[in-house]
Amino acid sequence: MADLSINFAGIKAPNPFWLASAPPTNSGYQIMKAFDAGWGGAVWKTLGVPVVNVSSRYGSINYRGARMAGFNNIELITDRPLADNLREIEEVKKYFPDHAVIASLMVESRAEWHQIIKDCENAGADGLELNFGCPHGMCERGMGSAVGQEPEVLKTIVEWVKEVATTPVITKLSPNISHIVDPGRAGVIGGTDALSLVNTFKSIVGINLDTYAPYPEVDGAGSNGGYCGPAIKPIALNMVRELAQDAITRNTPISGIGGIETWRDVVEYILLGCGSVQVCTSVMHYGFGIVREMEAGLHQFMDDKGYKTIEDFKGKALPNVKEWKDLNLKHKVVAEINDDKCIGCELCYIACEDGAHQAIGLSEVDGNRVPYIIEDNCVGCNLCSLVCPVEECITMVKRDDGTEHVTWAERTANNNIPTTFNDKLAGGIGHYVPEPSLALKNGRSKNGR
Ligand SMILES: Cc1cc2nc3c(=O)[nH]c(=O)nc-3n(C[C@H](O)[C@H](O)[C@H](O)COP(=O)(O)O)c2cc1C
Ligand code: SF4
Ligand code: SF4
Repeated sequence: MADLSINFAGIKAPNPFWLASAPPTNSGYQIMKAFDAGWGGAVWKTLGVPVVNVSSRYGSINYRGARMAGFNNIELITDRPLADNLREIEEVKKYFPDHAVIASLMVESRAEWHQIIKDCENAGADGLELNFGCPHGMCERGMGSAVGQEPEVLKTIVEWVKEVATTPVITKLSPNISHIVDPGRAGVIGGTDALSLVNTFKSIVGINLDTYAPYPEVDGAGSNGGYCGPAIKPIALNMVRELAQDAITRNTPISGIGGIETWRDVVEYILLGCGSVQVCTSVMHYGFGIVREMEAGLHQFMDDKGYKTIEDFKGKALPNVKEWKDLNLKHKVVAEINDDKCIGCELCYIACEDGAHQAIGLSEVDGNRVPYIIEDNCVGCNLCSLVCPVEECITMVKRDDGTEHVTWAERTANNNIPTTFNDKLAGGIGHYVPEPSLALKNGRSKNGR
């Protein structure tokens, strides 16, 4: 059986499944329960000068029957006294010496950073995570994402931390920035041992249409919160990928965070270069027990592929993430419908007709309208296969013979790209487009009445 244990920037853990710094890591009780359930590490709810929180605190996006597809919070760092947290860190480490306990920290001055680092290391923390991400409350006080958005300040604080830290330092980045590589590089230049991302995205999940206040409501008002959960995973994955490919940050270990719920999510983060993952929202939704599915699934995946350790497949997807200009313009796929699976819902027809390239027709068979692909019009965009509610009913099939390979970069180098507005090299030339007047239904006048 595959070995799931990891050594992440010097922090050892029995597996890569860590709890992110958040309500599930608010206390020693919760972390002990999580380790008992199978989690390999936990980043303690951020420690600092304790705060006072508001009530209520959370909002969510429920999408088409799925609850908490996106999750929003206006909670701050821990509101518990430091001494209580330190005592509990010590106790957890006594019971679980081989599990990773990481202290997440957020304070202001250099002296405060030095003091809290010593306190946490004395309590037995295996590593430190610097929270430069909170996009509400703490940033108004010059901490959290206020630091994450200022690479120079971030670098200075990492340097302060490294002056005294004897355990590995993980710098947790805010995604509320247009170019994630900038704070990532600043952390690495400042001497961080690892990076973790993402923290939450600045957000408003909705407005109460009676009170006109944003959710979550606090006495008739609200504030922007931090967005997380399954909805953010694609954006987080790309940020992780950017850091894993950047010349300055790529050799620094990355702990991936954002929307992780299943073993597949875990594998995707590892394939894009992560050495550990952290989970918050899905644990808040379903509890610590979800780690069992993650562990079984990861084991199965590794056994199926013949991987013995996490390192064997870490970053394996990175060579396949290219810039658009380096993709093969000669690759050609078209949609194919499996008539035996089709239930005749016509979603594909509507999507292609109104939202794509008018490449699906409807034929009459035994009084039923049956969709068929007009292959000459199909550009292979995937839309119909994405909207089709029947799994594997519409598949994309390859039509090029694989002998030709030309990229935009190569065409540019050969002066073979459109350069004027009406250029004969435009990709859409020769592609079928119906006459505009064909859009009008029978009998309708020009103005639509
Ligand atoms: C209610 C709540 C409180 C959080 N508190 C913290 C915190 O104290 N420190 C921190 O670094 N991140 C905090 N986070 C962010 C999470 O650690 C994590 O980065 C984010 O939720 C993305 O992961 P997810 O999609 O699995 O939830 C919090 C998130 C939530 C939902
Ligand atoms: S792949 Fe795109 S263009 Fe082709 S049939 Fe489907 S929706 Fe239409
Ligand atoms: S969307 Fe799928 S099931 Fe519905 S008509 Fe098209 S092919 Fe058939």
